[in-house]
Amino acid sequence: MGIRIIGTGSYLPPKVVTNEDIAKSLETSDEWIYSHTGIHSRHVAGADESTATMGAKAAQAAMDAAGVKPEEIGLIVVATSTPDYNPFPSTACLIQGALGCANAGAFDLQAACSGFIYALEQARGFVNFYPDKKAIVIGAETLTRILDWTDRGSCILFGDGAGAVVLANDEPPGVASLKTKAHTLLGADGKGAGFITREGGCREPLPLDPVTGIPWRPIPKLHSLTLQGHDVFAFAVRTLSKVCRDLCAKLQTTPEELDRVFAHQANARIIEATARRMKLPLEKFFLNLETTANTSAASIPISLDQAVRSGELTEGLKIVMVGFGAGLTYAGTYCTWPNL
Ligand code: UT7
Repeated sequence: MGIRIIGTGSYLPPKVVTNEDIAKSLETSDEWIYSHTGIHSRHVAGADESTATMGAKAAQAAMDAAGVKPEEIGLIVVATSTPDYNPFPSTACLIQGALGCANAGAFDLQAACSGFIYALEQARGFVNFYPDKKAIVIGAETLTRILDWTDRGSCILFGDGAGAVVLANDEPPGVASLKTKAHTLLGADGKGAGFITREGGCREPLPLDPVTGIPWRPIPKLHSLTLQGHDVFAFAVRTLSKVCRDLCAKLQTTPEELDRVFAHQANARIIEATARRMKLPLEKFFLNLETTANTSAASIPISLDQAVRSGELTEGLKIVMVGFGAGLTYAGTYCTWPNL
């Protein structure tokens, strides 16, 4: 009853790049990467794939699982930091067109690796007030296309992929959110904005043409992701455990009562440290980054879909989804699956 996830889907591109593959051209090794991150391999988008094509495949799978038709969808939100175009048209519009969701509004949302939970909260608000419509929330990324493949401190961490969920509501407008037993926390710490960055924005003025005096547009440079790994690691461990604790406290329960935690898959060492801080067995934390690496906004919906399809995530389980990322951002949702 109320607002709930009625279908999940995900897509991982078939091309796999192993640590050994990376070590052929970079001074690194499978041993170093695995021992520091828990990653063995990652999926990489093929030449004919993009954030939009992967997002559309994940969303189609989620719609199929939910048994909904394209015309029933009223909203598509895509969480991504690697849109097909920068920044318009939105990747959400490309996916809306590809899926034939003619009745859906569509927009992208950028909150880095926390983006899926931010987007889920937007869609939750939407179906709360428009219960006759369904919403699709997608996390999709082609992070491998913005990496500096000569920087061993960052390029080993990321992979490509997409995950999606379909939301429905069977309460009258505005009623479901009053009854919900779910709780969401969205947060940011802009003081850490420099820890994960990518240039290429509009904050600097264009140079002026010396003859005409009007702004002159130089050929745009390609920009790569930069990462201060240590600072992000410390923030992540601090924040993931705090968000889980705060969510449990708000719902007057304890972390021990949680059945599963779906944490952003950034680094297995981060998840292990979070488990230790929370005094929870590591088995409660879903882990797939050995073969997916960090897929940023896609990591939580990919994890949810894999857990649903393997039978690990079943109705009635108390779960927390929790993420962190560039911004710095963080976010968490507590719910009794699949009710939001
Ligand atoms: O979604 C959010 C995205 N960001 C993150 O999640 C990043 C969080 N941070 C991390 O995961 C870790 O900080 C890293 C995996 C990025 C780095 O691990 P670390 O244990 O913090 O390594 P480090 O940066 O302290 O580097 C230790 C050593 C250095 O050598 P020296 O200076 O001690 O000689 C690095 O140059 O390891 C070296 N190193 C590597 N060696 C082999 C760094 N990367 C590599 C590598 N292969 N890939």
